[in-house]
Amino acid sequence: MLNNVLIKNADINDIDELYAFERGIFTHDQLSKRQIRYHIKHKQNQFLVVKVADTIVGYCLIFCIFGRYSYARIYSIAVAPEFQKKKIAAQLMQKALIEIKNNKINKVYLEVAEDNLTAINFYKNFKFTVIKTIPLYYQGKYNALKMQKIM
Ligand SMILES: CC(C)(COP(=O)(O)OP(=O)(O)OC[C@H]1O[C@@H](n2cnc3c(N)ncnc32)[C@H](O)[C@@H]1OP(=O)(O)O)[C@@H](O)C(=O)NCCC(=O)NCCS
Repeated sequence: MLNNVLIKNADINDIDELYAFERGIFTHDQLSKRQIRYHIKHKQNQFLVVKVADTIVGYCLIFCIFGRYSYARIYSIAVAPEFQKKKIAAQLMQKALIEIKNNKINKVYLEVAEDNLTAINFYKNFKFTVIKTIPLYYQGKYNALKMQKIM
């Protein structure tokens, strides 16, 4: 367990490191540098990064969508393999949920590959429930589960 890690909002100086980190974790649907820059600058998004010894070891990207039915979407959460299972993602998720609540939003959605049991388990721990299966969501080949949490 790694407690009290530094979680902060990403800034434009983090773009190159985030880009390399993302490519090291995900094999598809990776964010481009341009998308990373956009999400960092977009005020309605929260791009949280976790740093250990000044190095990014995890991040969480959240979109807040405001309107008649406001909601948040957790686009992605990831921790470097060597730092996994130390509750870093749990700390990121806690912080993300606080940020979402601060925006007066009480509904959170996310999509996750149906075979990503680690992530599904992680989300269930945070009381997300599966609301539907989205066929062929990833790369037109793999199903996703849509999960929801009402706060
Ligand atoms: C999913 C992920 C973010 C979890 O990060 P993490 O920092 O290892 O998670 P934590 O240590 O905070 O775990 C919190 C809880 O999640 C669950 N969990 C985490 N890893 C798990 C695993 N390998 N198997 C089963 N449950 C797991 C557990 O319930 C755990 O609580 P516990 O340790 O008390 O049992 C991480 O595995 C990851 O980055 N995976 C690759 C990227 C990814 O698939 N992201 C999600 C889709 S966008």
